[in-house]
Formats: sequence, C-alpha cells, structure tokens
Amino acid sequence: MSTGKKFKIASIGAGNVGASAAQYCLELELGDVVLTDILEGFPQGKALDLTEAGPIRGYSSQCTGTNDYADIEGADLCIVSAGLPRKPGMTRLDLLEKNGQIMTSICENIKKYAPESTVIVITNPLDVMVYLAYKKLEFPANRVIGMAGCLDSSRMRSFVAMELGVSMKNVDTMVLGSHGDDMVPLPHYTTVSGIPITKLMPQDRIDAIVERTRKGGGEIVQLLKTGSAFYAPAASAVRMAQSVIRDEKQVLPCAAHLTGQYGLNDIYMGVPCVLGKDGVEKIIELDITDAERAALHKSAEEVKSGIAGLQEVGIL
Ligand code: LAC
Repeated sequence: MSTGKKFKIASIGAGNVGASAAQYCLELELGDVVLTDILEGFPQGKALDLTEAGPIRGYSSQCTGTNDYADIEGADLCIVSAGLPRKPGMTRLDLLEKNGQIMTSICENIKKYAPESTVIVITNPLDVMVYLAYKKLEFPANRVIGMAGCLDSSRMRSFVAMELGVSMKNVDTMVLGSHGDDMVPLPHYTTVSGIPITKLMPQDRIDAIVERTRKGGGEIVQLLKTGSAFYAPAASAVRMAQSVIRDEKQVLPCAAHLTGQYGLNDIYMGVPCVLGKDGVEKIIELDITDAERAALHKSAEEVKSGIAGLQEVGIL
C-alpha cells in the first residue's frame, strides 16, 4: 500500500461467514484481523488456525481472536456477520428481532471502540439490519454499508457463465433492491465481454437465471440444511472491504442509504455504488424501465415492513 499504513479489520462474528471473511482478508493482506465473537475460545481457535495457515498460504498479517470488544479498538473497518443464520423454511425476516438485538449491542461497541471505522454489515435481514446499524451507530451514511448486491450479482454472474459455458470473469451483472426474493436483477445491464446477454440466450433462460438469482440464498440453505451460504457472502464483503481499504473506487452494488435516488428516501437498498476510502463515495442512478422501478419500490416495501417490525418491538 502506498501509504504504508497497516489497516486493522474487525470481523465481528466468528461463524462461517466471519471466519471466511477473515481468511480472505488475510490472503489479500488487507490488514491485521481481529476475529470477535461471544463464544469463549471460538474466535481464538479460528484465529490461531488461520495464523497457522499463514506460512503455507504466504501471508504474514496478524490474526487474533477475542471475546472482548476492547480489542477492536481503533479498527479501520468492521465486517459484521454476527447473528443467527437462516434455517430451512425460514425467511430472512424471521430473523428480525433476534438479530436486531445482537446488532444493537454490536453497534454500541463499535461506536465505543472504533468510532472512525467504516462498517460493512452482512447480518440478515440485510437491508433492515444495515439501516438499524446506521441509526444506532450515528456514523455518516457513507461509512455504513450493506453487503448484498455484490453477492447477488456474483451469483447471477456464475449462473450466466454456467449457462453459456463462458468464463465467469467475462460476465458483468447488476442486481438492485433488497436482499430478498424481491430483489431486482437487471438482465439488460448484464453482459459477457460487453455483449448483452439478450443477444446470447433466449428470454426463457434469462428468466430462469433471474429467478435462480432471487432464490440463490435459499438454494444454498436447502442444500446445506444446517445453515446458510458463507464463501460467496464473505468473498463479497471482502471485495467491498478491499475497495475501501485500497481506495480502489470499484463500482459494486451495495446496500446504501438512499436520499431520493430511485424515488426512495431514508431507506437502505441495493444500488450501484463507487466504493473508496470514504466508503460509499457515490451512488449511481441507472436508467431503468418502469417495470424495474415498480419492482424496486415493491422490494422497498419489504424493507420498510422490516423497519416497522423493529419499531414495533422497540429496537428502533
Ligand atoms: C445468502 C445469505 C447470506 O444470501 O443472505 O446466502
């Protein structure tokens, strides 16, 4: 890094997502990682294991595990995955109350020990949890970001590549809206090396990919039976972290605080963002069809009902 500054990353929640995020951060040498969890021994064990992989994988950043939030002191970036995952048959909204309580207590600690950090939230229901984090942290909105669109668009990229038998690296997609079954994948912003997919596959295959993308998280939950996806969610959060830490200005779909963009106000939802050292440095407003705009507003309703749910139980 040009500045020579050693970054400190707190991965809060040492479950599969948090530990995988720690691993990817270490492998990219983004900074030293503090893995934090309430379960005694759990983050310490995973951190030691990750440290012991370092000599072979070729990284030398430090990884420590802790049950004490004081150890995240001065973190530049916090990745929050703590919370209960979905079990088969559960929607992301079912997780609302429990994860709302967990998020509230985490935010108190981030505020106390890492008040200058940029915070990336992964915990579900994502758009509601990141809004809650924004309210509880009272940080500027550009420093509180939700990870969802990056994951959903990565899923869509892989489905397009599988369908066409082409490299995933050549596929670009865009998915807007909430991280739920009402998300809004945008086929007309989906390309393979610049070629619109509408020129490469019939409409019914595009429709099937859109549907599979919407249900992408549930597909993994059904297969795993004991939890939800973690490699792709962690990789997506770390891609965002990388763009912030290295000030890369990557354009990635993220849940960002909207203040009138796309006709939506005071809500977090997935939109294309430029991510750099100041977090969300810009929100890009795409030209979308009336049907897509209507779908986006429908997906906002789901998020608003989640926010109302938190208000009902007194968390917000
Ligand atoms: C998923 C979870 C992380 O989409 O929401 O897999």
